[in-house]
Amino acid sequence: MKNFKRTLITSALPYANGPVHIGHLAGVYVPADIYARYLRLKGESVLFIGGSDEHGVPITIKAKKEGVSPQNIVDRYHGIIKKSFEEFGISFDVYSRTTSQIHHDTASQIFKTLYDKGEFIEKTSEQYYDETAHQFLADRYITGECPHCHAEGAYGDQCEKCGSTLSPMELINPKSAISGSKPVLRETKHWYLPLDKYETWLRQWILEDHKEWRPNVYGQCKSWLDLGLQPRAVSRDLDWGIPVPVAGAEGKVLYVWFDAPIGYISNTKELCAAHPELGNWETWWKDDTTRLIHFIGKDNIVFHCIVFPVMLKAEGSYILPDNVPSNEFLNLEGDKISTSRNWAVWLHEYLRDFPGKQDVLRYVLTANAPETKDNDFTWKDFQTRNNSELVAIYGNFINRALVLTQKFFDGKVPEMGELTDYDKTTLKEFADVKSQLEQLLDNFKFRDAQKEAMNLARIGNKYLADTEPWKVAKTDMVRTATILHLALQIAANLAIAFEPFLPFSSQKLRNMLNLKSCNWNELGHIDLLKVGDKLGTPELLFEKIEDAAVEAQIKKLQDTKKVNELAAFKPAEIKENTTFDNFCKMDIRVGTVLECTKVPKADKLLQFKIDDGMGGRTILSGVAQSYPEPEKLVGMQVCFIVNFPARKLKGIDSEGMLLSAEDADGKLVLVSPSKAVKNGVSVG
Ligand code: 2FM
Ligand code: ZN
Repeated sequence: MKNFKRTLITSALPYANGPVHIGHLAGVYVPADIYARYLRLKGESVLFIGGSDEHGVPITIKAKKEGVSPQNIVDRYHGIIKKSFEEFGISFDVYSRTTSQIHHDTASQIFKTLYDKGEFIEKTSEQYYDETAHQFLADRYITGECPHCHAEGAYGDQCEKCGSTLSPMELINPKSAISGSKPVLRETKHWYLPLDKYETWLRQWILEDHKEWRPNVYGQCKSWLDLGLQPRAVSRDLDWGIPVPVAGAEGKVLYVWFDAPIGYISNTKELCAAHPELGNWETWWKDDTTRLIHFIGKDNIVFHCIVFPVMLKAEGSYILPDNVPSNEFLNLEGDKISTSRNWAVWLHEYLRDFPGKQDVLRYVLTANAPETKDNDFTWKDFQTRNNSELVAIYGNFINRALVLTQKFFDGKVPEMGELTDYDKTTLKEFADVKSQLEQLLDNFKFRDAQKEAMNLARIGNKYLADTEPWKVAKTDMVRTATILHLALQIAANLAIAFEPFLPFSSQKLRNMLNLKSCNWNELGHIDLLKVGDKLGTPELLFEKIEDAAVEAQIKKLQDTKKVNELAAFKPAEIKENTTFDNFCKMDIRVGTVLECTKVPKADKLLQFKIDDGMGGRTILSGVAQSYPEPEKLVGMQVCFIVNFPARKLKGIDSEGMLLSAEDADGKLVLVSPSKAVKNGVSVG
């Protein structure tokens, strides 16, 4: 292992075209923050870099839709995202943006250096052009019929219906999403980064020298490399972005994935310029005693493990990432999180509904972190983890230790007397926690690390439950003092162990314990509090979350699902024209339900006895799933076709067919006149 002197942590720059949700937090920002806080607590030299990714086509699409400028969009969302991160305690040393001047200069400079070194291939190719809007069309700006599933409205890069990756040329009947016109092919020049040239080097650097990378990251890199790399265009025909800084490149900007990772460098420059005590930015990016770690989601792996390293390598003066801990995806209640379907828990909305409960969300997201596979967030699990872990174990232990000290020792740390064997066993268990935590955190296993911290709370909780100081106090104050002394020392240890995971609660606990310092290296010590130290006022560390609160969230998601289903509903195509005569041939009547019962051994069938004004008839209909209490239909008027030949179903003669329609949930509902009419009248 190399002897690193400092760690530079970056976390993927979110696109500033929407607010952030729990998937972002779980996948990237909470793990990165845990790691940054952990290293800082250990006293290491560390910078944690964040910022908004403010270029790219989706931002221009959003701006067009809203009739505002792209700058307007990014100003708005940069503010919202930055605020959400601050509120959740994501402890960036800098959170800047890729529209800053320093970033434009830095990205242009790196492009220029690569250009001057002859690192790019210049190539002219045919791309779709909108002659009405006078512009080349980015893949997302072209829609058409999917060549695979034949859905309309597939994008030039992907069909959202069947999920196939597409290229614009594959679309059937392509249309410009800007003007609706048919695009034409036109020649355009772009600059390409020859990834293929670096394939041998990449194979060595990743597959041989970085076998320790997470299996999902290593595996994805290996498949890319095994498929063979192609040169990648690093410029686009677009009017939003960083202009390509060479002659003859008017109307062209750097591809967003070329400039975005450079944002890590620009933001470091901006930070170091404002804080000279942090040293020169170049020490952080060019000195090989700096360890660079990129926290990202799995859709960013190729850019951080292949494209950006090739850019840095080609430039020649930068260090390369030492590790790229990438997470898989977090789902929500069994479905993929989706901004367009509003299937998400937005951070600003969470805080509105659960004010002050940032740590609860942090805790649950880490407990379910999608570190090795996609994982699911459910509101029920959120409630259970809060109520049975944070409240019942951690909170309960702290509350007992503090309240009892208040009650029996006037809120002052009591003296420790002789230790029993049981005390010693407890201390032994707890002595291992530090090294176990370190082992896990050093290997980016945050989910298990948090479990280990909770284990420490469990040790404390069990210690008090077993030693029962509230009972011992009736007979033996010396022993009570010892028990509470130890419990308080464990509590102080918890404030340190949980600081990277639950920073707000740790701060609260430190205030309650009057613990001034918080230093990782003191973890495992049992002299963090001194005898006679006055504690602060005990407060509840966590509060129970009631059923109503999570039910409201579940209901909100169910409503979203309904809205989406209705929006997705497309009425069937209109059938071929019929004639008035044909219509008149159908004899539709109204009648009143006299009896309605389930048909034995038929899940879907109900048997109706109907007063049809003509002596009555029996009709069987497949609507049982929609009416679990068929007797309630008695008295309702229904419509039915009477001139169908009778047919036998389950041994019963059915004399007609009831009219029904599908509701929003796909269930059949009976068609009924809006006002009572005479039984037997014709519908026409
Ligand atoms: O996937 C995304 O949200 C990108 N905006 C991430 C960019 S990471 C880095 F390169 F800036
Ligand atoms: Zn398709």
